[in-house]
Amino acid sequence: MQTIKLNNVVEMPILGYGVFLVDPKECERCVSDAIDVGYRMIDTAQAYYNEEGVGNAVKKSGIKREDFFLVTKVWITNSGEEKAAKSIDESLKKLQTDYVDLLLIHQPFGDYYGTYRAMEKAYKAGKTRAIGISNFFPDRFVDISNFVEIQPMINQMETHVFQQQKKLREYLNKYNTQLMSWSPMARGENNIFENETLKSIAAKYNKTVAQVALRFLTQENVIVIPKSTHKTRMKENFEIFDFTIDNNDMEEIRKLDSGESIFVSHYSPEFAEYIINY
Ligand SMILES: NC(=O)c1ccc[n+]([C@@H]2O[C@H](COP(=O)([O-])OP(=O)(O)OC[C@H]3O[C@@H](n4cnc5c(N)ncnc54)[C@H](OP(=O)(O)O)[C@@H]3O)[C@@H](O)[C@H]2O)c1
Repeated sequence: MQTIKLNNVVEMPILGYGVFLVDPKECERCVSDAIDVGYRMIDTAQAYYNEEGVGNAVKKSGIKREDFFLVTKVWITNSGEEKAAKSIDESLKKLQTDYVDLLLIHQPFGDYYGTYRAMEKAYKAGKTRAIGISNFFPDRFVDISNFVEIQPMINQMETHVFQQQKKLREYLNKYNTQLMSWSPMARGENNIFENETLKSIAAKYNKTVAQVALRFLTQENVIVIPKSTHKTRMKENFEIFDFTIDNNDMEEIRKLDSGESIFVSHYSPEFAEYIINY
């Protein structure tokens, strides 16, 4: 598996498996299938309520812990130094491990500076191999980058062919933080699987639209974590390294960028109220 070197030189797989909206009852089966396909990086979160399922699947796989790259995220209700620290220990327990590979602040709401301090302490204590943030738009990202001791290694953001995060990427490069995509296939929205540009490029390489959407991001050095509850699709989404999209086609896909979220704006007060009460 191709890896990306984070700013603390930890190597992270460029492709993993995400479990947002995977029913807690189904999670163990899904992650076991993903592991069987070959995924070793698993992205979960406190707010997904399925960390136990991930932990069970990893444990039962019989594969060495160090061969996995486990990611989880601290939710808003656990923000603040003390609560976040407690929640990190709870996550470790649910995941049945004494360390994760990457710990993220899920959303930039609540006392997220307190949360970040708890994560820095967890990092120094060996409870996580890397720390980072998620959904930190360019302004929040520049803010936190200027006021924390340890520069975030990752910012996990909505990133796909329709929202390529071009502006944010300039600042991630400037501060040496790696982009990790969430919803790399736009969660199927915007009719992505029927998009004419992607369909014709996919036909040219004898690949599927999903594979082209994921390959496009990895060729741009973006880490991806596609989600599927179907093993056949998990396999399809994993088989993206046996072809290379040429420069002309990359340029065509770059033109699909709208520069905006296809889901919701983090700048909207309605969204802020919704997510704080989630
Ligand atoms: N940090 C954050 O705030 C945040 C937010 C959202 C997501 N995430 C992370 O990012 C991961 C991925 O994002 P996502 O789950 O929102 O969206 P996604 O991976 O872009 O898309 C998932 C959707 O596409 C379908 N699908 C998967 N593979 C397919 C294929 N080959 N062909 C056709 N359809 C396919 C899935 O359906 P089936 O399951 O039925 O196959 C599901 O409906 C999440 O699981 C989570 O780990 C993080």
